[in-house]
Amino acid sequence: MKTLGIETSCDETAVAVYDSEQGIIGESVFSQIDLHAEYGGVVPELASRDHCNKIIKVFKDATNGIDLNSIDQIAYTAGPGLLGALLIGESFAKGLSYSLDIPLIPVNHLEGHLVSPSMEFEEIETPYICLLVSGGHTMIVDVKAFGDYEIIGQSVDDAVGEAFDKVGKLLELPYPGGPHIERIALDGDPKSYKLPRPMLHSDDLNLSFSGLKTSVLYKVKEIDQMHDFIKSNIAASFQAAVIEVLVKKITKTIELTGRKEIIIAGGVAANKKLRTSMKELEDALDIKVFYPDLKYCGDNAAMIAYLGSLRGSSKNKFVESCVRARWPLSELS
Ligand code: KG4
Ligand code: ZN
Repeated sequence: MKTLGIETSCDETAVAVYDSEQGIIGESVFSQIDLHAEYGGVVPELASRDHCNKIIKVFKDATNGIDLNSIDQIAYTAGPGLLGALLIGESFAKGLSYSLDIPLIPVNHLEGHLVSPSMEFEEIETPYICLLVSGGHTMIVDVKAFGDYEIIGQSVDDAVGEAFDKVGKLLELPYPGGPHIERIALDGDPKSYKLPRPMLHSDDLNLSFSGLKTSVLYKVKEIDQMHDFIKSNIAASFQAAVIEVLVKKITKTIELTGRKEIIIAGGVAANKKLRTSMKELEDALDIKVFYPDLKYCGDNAAMIAYLGSLRGSSKNKFVESCVRARWPLSELS
């Protein structure tokens, strides 16, 4: 069974084909980072237009060498995400479904992040905990079974990636700030600036990053002359604060749920310091952490194709649009 997946919820145009026997047999991702860099964030109108411009090329790259008539069904991200961007993916998916006369499966982007580790790691079994850390979301999810998810902790304000990007902007680093903060932090001292660890000791599993970012803003304002070594010290101190909070909350999650398997997902899961800290936690708490391949940390269509293969579809055609800018996991059917 072959499932074609289409992802256009934000600033990545992606297509992939998942074969239930062989795994991913074709994939292509185009990132719009350069397009949005000068604005310091994703501009929705530009994102939609660029999905329109790139989707055919991305589709051709991903399906190169694959007989289109061998594809059995099409899954696409129907939400959550930018409405205009989602509509491009949906329209493309609908056109393909009509021309190939195969079923369409609208899927939830967040669920894609939650289940995709089992595409990469055969040994992973539910229940497990997913720490989803991206530019738009920060949540700790108890994945009890396929389709049965409970958000047991989440950011009450900024997402982790968003905080990385805002601090990147304060330090005049290119967009998105996350990878650049990680890079310059290598030359910095994580103890050089005393920054808060918001909600570190709160009784629940919720997180907060807005105050930490504001605290960096005040530190930056106090500096008369910015130098690269100062930027590195701030970046290292900020990164250390974020990771300490994430590690503490995951420790608490293990205590409360007794779960033994953790997966990390989303763009921030690419952060090496976070990965090293999670590795240390593995030994300390006798748990197993799964680290996705870097290409599957950020947005991609492989997870959408894989999720589509799990969900399947009984409907052949959708006349109505299914896209939703907001689509909480609690509303999955
Ligand atoms: O999952 P993603 O590709 O897109 C969505 O937000 O849906 O995540 C992008 C986020 C950005 O905020 C980016 O700065 C952050 O992930 N990011 C990182 C790293 N690589 C990407 N943050 C910290 N360290 C990294 N190495
Ligand atoms: Zn995502």
